This record gives sequence, C-alpha cells and structure tokens, in this order.
Amino acid sequence: MREDSNEFLVTPWEVRGKVDYARLVAEFGLTPLNQELYKRLTELAGGTHKLLRRRIFFAHRDLDWILDKYEQGEKFYLYTGRGPSGHTHLGHMVPWFLTKWLQDRFDVKLYFQMTDDEKFLFKPELTLEKTRRYALDNALDVIALGFNQDKTRIFLDTDYIGVLYKIALGCAKKITFSTVRATFGFTESSNIGQIFFTSIQAAPAFIESFISEKNVPCLIPLAVDQDPHFRVARDIAPKLGFYKPAIFHSKFLPSLSGAGKMSSSEAMSAIFTTDSPDAVRKKIWNAFTGGRPTIAEQKEKGGNPSICPVFYYYAFIFEEDDGALEERRLRCMSGDLLCGECKEELIGRIVEFLEEHQHKRERARDLLDKFLLKDEETF
Ligand code: TYM
Repeated sequence: MREDSNEFLVTPWEVRGKVDYARLVAEFGLTPLNQELYKRLTELAGGTHKLLRRRIFFAHRDLDWILDKYEQGEKFYLYTGRGPSGHTHLGHMVPWFLTKWLQDRFDVKLYFQMTDDEKFLFKPELTLEKTRRYALDNALDVIALGFNQDKTRIFLDTDYIGVLYKIALGCAKKITFSTVRATFGFTESSNIGQIFFTSIQAAPAFIESFISEKNVPCLIPLAVDQDPHFRVARDIAPKLGFYKPAIFHSKFLPSLSGAGKMSSSEAMSAIFTTDSPDAVRKKIWNAFTGGRPTIAEQKEKGGNPSICPVFYYYAFIFEEDDGALEERRLRCMSGDLLCGECKEELIGRIVEFLEEHQHKRERARDLLDKFLLKDEETF
C-alpha cells in the first residue's frame, strides 16, 4: 500500500506511519481471522496461543484450505524467513514464535530462508560478506527459539541457489516486469537484481512440491509487509502446476519511537536480541508512550494504551495472562498505572528473556551446521 493523505506505507522494504490494518485487509485482499476459523485452528492444534487469541495474527489467505487438506491427510510444511541486514530484533521474532508453535502442534517441517542476496541488492551499503555474516548470526536466534532439529532447515540463498534457482526460474518466466513494478513500486533506476528477486522469495513456497514431484501444501507465517511477494507467487502457482501457498499475517510490533514497524538500522527503535541490560533500560526509558505530559494529568485523565509501544510489548510478547494484560490496560486508562512503573516492569521482563535467549544463542553455535542446508542437499 502506498502512502496517501492518511500517511501510512507498507511495502516489503519500508513501513511508515500508523498502519490501518482494516484498510490493509481491504486493499491487499486479505481475509480476517474470524472466530470460526480461530476455533477450528485451535481445536486441530489442541490449544491456543496468545498471538492468535489477541488477533495479533489477524488475517490470512487460504488458512481454511490448509486445514481442510490437513484433515484430509495432506500435511502442510511451514516456510518463513529473514532478510539479514543487521541483528535480529524482537519484532522479527513475532512470526517465528507462532511458526514454532505451529510446528510443535502440527509436527511439520519448516524451511527458513535467509535472503542474504536480497539485502545485498536492496541496501547500497551492504556487501555479500556482511549479509552472510548477519544471516549466520540471525540463524542463531532462530535455532535458540527451539525449532525441531529434525524438521527444520535454514538456508542462505547464496548457498542454496543450486536448488532454488531452478524453481525461481520457473517463477520468473511467469512474472512480468509490469507486475513487479505495480506490486513493489520499482522504477527505471531499480537494479535488475531487485526486479528478479521476488522469484527467489517465492521459490521455497514450492520447494516441497518441486522436490517430491507431487503437490504439498505450504503455510507461510509472516508480518503483513511481506504479503506482496506471495500475492505474486499465488498468482503464478496454478500456471506452474503448484498449490497456492497459504499465508498467515501478523501485525507489527511497533517502533519504540511510536510509529511504523521497528527498523534494524535504527538502534533506538527496537530491542535487539544481542542488547545488554543497560541498552534495554535506556531504550525503554526513552520510548514513546501513550502517557500524558505530566503525572498529575496522567492520574486525572489516564493514558492511552492503544498508541503505546510499551503496552504492545506486553501484548505481543511479555504478558501471557490475558487477565493481567486487561488489568494493565484498564489501570493505564484510569490513571492508576503510571508509565514509569509500567516501563520498569517491562525492562525486568525483557532483560530476563534476553538473558536466557542469549545463553541459548551461544549454545546454538554448535547446532548451526545441523540446521543449515547447503548445495543440493534436501531434507
Ligand atoms: P525481514 O527480515 O524484514 O523480517 C523478518 C520477519 O519479521 C517480520 N517483521 C515483523 N513482525 C512483527 N513486528 C515487526 N516490527 C516486524 N518487522 C519485521 C517480517 O514480516 C518477516 O516475517 N524478505 C524477508 C525475508 C523472507 C521471508 C520469507 C519473510 C524471505 N522469505 C518468507 C517471511 C516469509 C525479509 O526481509 O524479512
């Protein structure tokens, strides 16, 4: 969606302004996750997840079809990814948390794509050496989340191109320049790698079907900025004889500065998995909130959690208990809970989470080889 008078923009490479998710649903042509499908998913999964209950995963394409197939005995596989342009921040992990839950609940394979090529092509300052280094670093975060070793493989595009290229070529042959220009806003001065790139991101959506020579359903959890790639992929799938991939869309964990999603290149806008407790403290204390300019005013009129990144950190990641989250929301709105207390508690929770995550990240170094797919390997 392009920017207009309401001032927001969502593309795979940039998110700006206050995102209006209802408008995105309409303009991207998504289907909201309704109560009936939520119920069916959680019944089949044998449980629920806060990202679903709170409709942070709020929309989909063909999730109902994936469940039909599952019930008919056609197991799906999961596919998601990361564009390694820096360290991982907590927003990146939002789709990965649900992906892990889905893998555990449905006992399915996961392909995880590291688009080191994409970040090289789209970020003038990045070399392939750097994007490779970030990809291997970011892979530690993926592994640290505890994905099933036997059922998960991570690949860098530049390592795994031997398999990807054949699929990407099939896609590229069906995608016109006019489609990518209209979908992604490319111009005469876009480099030709950028124009081709969507076919590389589409490839893993078909990889199991390509390798096994029979159609295998694919489910892709992501935040909604990545949807345009798969709109194109879904359009061409039937022409290639593949199933359309199903997509499950998350909202964005907002920037600590208040608007848009977080950015790998703006250190203060996000908490990175490598941040020290001091850095966390500084960032959260600096964060924009839904609070009032003075304590007296806050006590009298209350705060506004619906615009507050600190509140969203609790809702997306750091508060499991729905009752406690609602109580926090009401106490904020009534003026009973002040921003200082709310921030201090969040700092404690983030620091505790990161301490454990950073240990797991270190341990993940020994597992990296097992998770990485190279050359023509399959799994
Ligand atoms: P990247 O590296 O920009 O983002 C990785 C994943 O994180 C999501 N995301 C967020 N989710 C919630 N809150 C946020 N603030 C936030 N910021 C980013 C993204 O939507 C993405 O799911 N080209 C892709 C990498 C990729 C990929 C994929 C992603 C390759 N294949 C398949 C999803 C599915 C990229 O640069 O993602």
